[in-house]
Amino acid sequence: MVYAIHEMVVRGAPAIGAAAAFGLALAASRSKASSVGEMQEELKTAAAALLASRPTAVNLAWGVRRMLAASSGPVGSPAGLCQLMVDEAQQIADEDVQTNLHMAEIGAQLIADGDTVIHHCNTGSLATVDWGTALGVIHMAHQQGKRVHVLVDETRPRLQGSRLTAWELEQYGIPYEIISDGAAGYFLRTGQAQKVFFGADRVAANGDVANKVGSYMLALAANSNGVPVYSVFPTSTVDLSLANGDLIPIEEREEEEVLGIEYKGQRIAPAGAHARNPAFDLTPHSLLTGLVTENGIAYPPFDMNLARLMRVNPDSSRKQ
Ligand code: MRU
Repeated sequence: MVYAIHEMVVRGAPAIGAAAAFGLALAASRSKASSVGEMQEELKTAAAALLASRPTAVNLAWGVRRMLAASSGPVGSPAGLCQLMVDEAQQIADEDVQTNLHMAEIGAQLIADGDTVIHHCNTGSLATVDWGTALGVIHMAHQQGKRVHVLVDETRPRLQGSRLTAWELEQYGIPYEIISDGAAGYFLRTGQAQKVFFGADRVAANGDVANKVGSYMLALAANSNGVPVYSVFPTSTVDLSLANGDLIPIEEREEEEVLGIEYKGQRIAPAGAHARNPAFDLTPHSLLTGLVTENGIAYPPFDMNLARLMRVNPDSSRKQ
């Protein structure tokens, strides 16, 4: 059971909170506990397994904490607790969709008709419950009738860009081309890209953003060519307990992902080769133009303006 729950959160991103929540609901549904107390203990064990699975994406802990808080409320029976877990997980999932829709509406204003946008990793419906974060903004701009063209970073080593983002853009009818991650600098320097968008796995109080490895290099190249860089994430991705991004734990994954084409199980490096595989990197706030959340867009100084957005009630940010 613990192994099954662990697998459910392999795919990170803000959906990781909802996935973890359904993982706990699954644990409750499969429990043979004869009392509420016994089931609450089982849920704590499952929660610990989930929390240990991916250290960078903060939504995991956010989702688990919310579910454990719900599980400690007054409930009459194990069956009642199980239903409570299912309902809370569904609530988290429903909220994720509304939050992403808010962000898409707010962020779409940043994209001009005719823009070519470089997008990194996958941040769409396949990475969230629906709509997505950065890709949701691009999708909304397209739906608003803006002619948007996307340069899709393939996003080695797990290829979330060429496997997932490309597929989503196909579904939405948004024109795109896949580029190798290293080619982004060329398109930025030659003026062939006007904006950069990516998501976030954890954001520190000063606006530093941890996201899929390669985001930092992309932001550096964009900055040195005067191209704006936006990170899009729900406020549940902000960790105000961390003053700066150097405090964010960066997951290091198995070297096999780099030494081969993981999905083909095909090794490309020499038999004796070894690799380093940080799954995320840190983009310092100094390289970011704006942070798009469901409560609005934060511009520098991020420490002040992000904290202000964290205090905003989402509905008040929605354009009437
Ligand atoms: O290792 P992954 O696939 O979990 O990494 C995902 C990312 O880094 C995404 O860019 C980020 O989580 C935002 S997804 C809405």
